[in-house]
Amino acid sequence: MIQVLKVSKKYLQGKQEICALNDVSFGIEKGEFLSIMGPSGSGKSTLLNLIGGLDQPSTGEIFIDGSPLHGISDDALTLIRRKRVGFIFQFFNLLPILTAAENVGLPLLLDGVPFSRIQEKATHLLESVGLGSRTEHRPEQLSGGEMQRVAIARALITDPAVLLADEPTGNLDSHISEEILGLLKNLNQTGQTIVMVTHDSRAASCGKRIITLKDGGITEDIAISGSSS
Ligand SMILES: Nc1ncnc2c1ncn2[C@@H]1O[C@H](COP(=O)(O)OP(=O)(O)O)[C@@H](O)[C@H]1O
Ligand SMILES: [Mg+2]
Repeated sequence: MIQVLKVSKKYLQGKQEICALNDVSFGIEKGEFLSIMGPSGSGKSTLLNLIGGLDQPSTGEIFIDGSPLHGISDDALTLIRRKRVGFIFQFFNLLPILTAAENVGLPLLLDGVPFSRIQEKATHLLESVGLGSRTEHRPEQLSGGEMQRVAIARALITDPAVLLADEPTGNLDSHISEEILGLLKNLNQTGQTIVMVTHDSRAASCGKRIITLKDGGITEDIAISGSSS
């Protein structure tokens, strides 16, 4: 479903060139739960951002469902990002002035769908992540785990082909992390394709497959049998 072909990403820092990703190739099948693991600075976020169309490779190609993410207009890329990909982040990235339901509905609001039509789906998604009683709360009235649940519901509202998660438990204590990882596993069991970046091997083991990055290259790509909790 996703092909990453000979992708490299170089950043210029002053006059120094930093190679964040070096000739990375792999595929992701529909229904996979892929963990991308590696130490800080190994290129995990760079890779996830490229897959999500938030950034462009220096060289190489990425395809989602056969459609290239390169050589297309900014508008086309924005549409793919908005409709085909759902993102969740370490720091949730919720808008503080919006309620939980409004945050969840935002991607569709940006597409011009009236909120009255979105509300039902937003409420349903919040219920499905266990927040049916928090729809009118603002982020500051929610715990970290609850905020991440809102972010997950928001990422799902467009029925994305793939859910991309960058250190989704990086800012949560271990008990809450387990809950969020359990939620992601449940989502995957219903067929949702997930790619999760983490530096934590315990979190990574929730996936069905683990790719390990080091210095911008893949050092290991293993399937997990009967993935643990
Ligand atoms: N926008 C940027 N400009 C310059 N260097 C960057 C930028 N983003 C990432 N890097 C560098 O690329 C490397 C990989 O970063 P990143 O993908 O964020 O790693 P990880 O998510 O594994 O911690 C690091 O050396 C980082 O400093
Ligand atoms: Mg990172």
